[in-house]
Amino acid sequence: MDAIPKNVLKINRLTKIYPGEVRAVNNVSFSVKKGELIAILGPSGAGKSTLLRCLNRLIAPTNGEVLVNGRDITQCRGKALQQLRSDVGMVFQQFNLIPRLTVFENVLAGRLGHTGNPFWSTASFFRIFSEKNKQASFDALKKVGIEHLAPKRADSLSGGQQQRVAIARTLAQEPAVILADEPVASLDPASSQRVLGILKVICDSKNIPVIVNLHQVDLAQQYATRIIGIQDGALVFDGKAADFTLDIAKRIYGAQFETCLCIPRANQIAAA
Ligand SMILES: Nc1ncnc2c1ncn2[C@@H]1O[C@H](COP(=O)(O)OP(=O)(O)O)[C@@H](O)[C@H]1O
Ligand SMILES: [Mg+2]
Repeated sequence: MDAIPKNVLKINRLTKIYPGEVRAVNNVSFSVKKGELIAILGPSGAGKSTLLRCLNRLIAPTNGEVLVNGRDITQCRGKALQQLRSDVGMVFQQFNLIPRLTVFENVLAGRLGHTGNPFWSTASFFRIFSEKNKQASFDALKKVGIEHLAPKRADSLSGGQQQRVAIARTLAQEPAVILADEPVASLDPASSQRVLGILKVICDSKNIPVIVNLHQVDLAQQYATRIIGIQDGALVFDGKAADFTLDIAKRIYGAQFETCLCIPRANQIAAA
């Protein structure tokens, strides 16, 4: 084990300006270590999705650096970019599975970067994967607790089950970090708890840090080790989940912010 936790991800002065001078991400810097589950909170339009998408270069940032295990993803091209991207797993609100493929085939797709063969047809899909790749996919399905659904078509599953397939696919990729953009926004409360619980187990047991965009403050407090607050593209809070107070929530979401009683006021933390 590392004596000093290493930064898996380091973001330096990241800025994204869209056409029309929309400054969606404004000079954001932070580092991410193994074992951290970071929730990014902020009102709609604050820049959470843009920030996450800059981290795996789905969006090219205007300025700044994104170092994945020390290598700057903003400067990579071609094969180097492809390799670095496979180190950054991504989970989406709408799961992004291939509906007509089985659960197992969807998870195998996460292993494409490990086959040495990025070119495949539907006919060759299954054949290009070695036994090792198939075993890794099955292990990933087991980790999210749905190995019994392996032969089912992806589109026959519930939303919560589909999100677990998407997490297994990301896990099969063996990423250095997992990014999840509103992964529970389309799910019922029980499925949301299960999905976030799975991400937490992965973070703890596999030592893979997770960054998750959320709009539920209570879920962030329940599952995250750290919360980053974003407002108008800028980082306005970065601290332990336990230090995220009602006053800070009001600063980020506005004075009208109402929430459950699990968020303490700053003076309650001081008194505890
Ligand atoms: N492709 C785009 N072109 C121009 N502006 C965009 C684009 N995508 C997002 N924006 C703007 O950038 C800001 C941040 O959006 P987004 O990252 O989606 O925020 P969030 O995920 O926090 O809701 C918003 O003002 C949004 O309208
Ligand atoms: Mg968003």
